[in-house]
Amino acid sequence: MFDRYQREIHYLRLSVTDLCNLRCRYCMPDGVEKLEREAVLTYEEFLRLAALFAQCGIDTVRVTGGEPLVRKNVAQLVAGLKATPGIRRVTLTTNAVLLAEQLPALLDAGLDSVNISLDTLRPEVFRQITARDDFAAVQAGLQAALESGLPVKLNCVPQAGVNEGELEALAALAKDNAMQVRFIEMMPIGYGAAMPCISGPELRARFARRWPELAPLSPAQEHALGDGPAVYYTVPGWQGSIGFIAAVHGKFCASCNRVRLTSQGFLRPCLASETGCDLRALLRSGADDAQLLAAIRETIWAKPREHHFNDSSMPATRGMYRIGG
Ligand code: GTP
Ligand code: 5AD
Ligand code: SF4
Repeated sequence: MFDRYQREIHYLRLSVTDLCNLRCRYCMPDGVEKLEREAVLTYEEFLRLAALFAQCGIDTVRVTGGEPLVRKNVAQLVAGLKATPGIRRVTLTTNAVLLAEQLPALLDAGLDSVNISLDTLRPEVFRQITARDDFAAVQAGLQAALESGLPVKLNCVPQAGVNEGELEALAALAKDNAMQVRFIEMMPIGYGAAMPCISGPELRARFARRWPELAPLSPAQEHALGDGPAVYYTVPGWQGSIGFIAAVHGKFCASCNRVRLTSQGFLRPCLASETGCDLRALLRSGADDAQLLAAIRETIWAKPREHHFNDSSMPATRGMYRIGG
């Protein structure tokens, strides 16, 4: 369906849990409070809502977290989503710590692609960023995903003084691997607000100095890579490409196609908005499908025009792990 700014909304980001097995310092530092188990929607509840979202024109669902794979049997949810009439693509964004062991079940369930978060190629920097020692597990997850033939994208958040010196090495992973290595501008959401952002344009200029032949993909090539806000470049002869997600400097709100459902069943029409609809309350108070559909339609219709990252009234306390990226 279309929102009031004539944007076609067809993509749902479904956060299945707030929990995570890492503690990336810009997202979810130690000490964050846990939610009660009952606060989080069951798979049955997610699937009931997904069927209604599909009736509103949602054809793509990205499963996110926290870290989605810490929730038991996510493959079962993926299979349920794939079996939902109207939903064509089901994708996953993960830190890959548990990916190698869960990949076979996810492939069986019909997962269409995977985006893996990886900010560094050095185990000690991994520990510094995530406060955990799982670098080897992430490497195994990435390797398994590449070998499986599933389309893979990497998400890297450049951080001044942390991984700044290895961004070219990360980008160069796209040379011999048919994957997209994407660089995300640090968004001033939650804890990220205190960290400086290395801008997409700044980074692209840096890469253009390193690889003078760096050139944008055609719109058709870009379209084939997904529905997200990334803008892609490649170097002749490379198997993959480099993407930039300039959420702060290159506002892409005018072409936004998505809404978010939190693990607690709150429909959030924009990453940066506090307003939305408590679908859990409706579900659990016995609302019928028509009432739920009306609430979903109304919330999508009222999706805000754009984020105001630079507006100091934006709540800085809400971590990205609670929004689902
Ligand atoms: P693809 O379809 O594979 O391109 O997926 P994607 O880029 O939409 O999904 P992914 O989960 O990999 O997100 C990568 C980064 O983009 C994360 O940091 C998200 O927070 C950010 N992102 C995704 N959608 C939006 C959005 O609507 N607004 C903003 N500001 N950032 C977004
Ligand atoms: N700004 C930009 N990206 C962020 N992520 C988490 N927090 C932020 C932030 N404040 C990224 C993670 C992951 C993706 C889903 O979101 O690094 O790659
Ligand atoms: Fe976990 Fe992802 Fe947040 Fe890191 S960025 S703490 S991996 S949810």
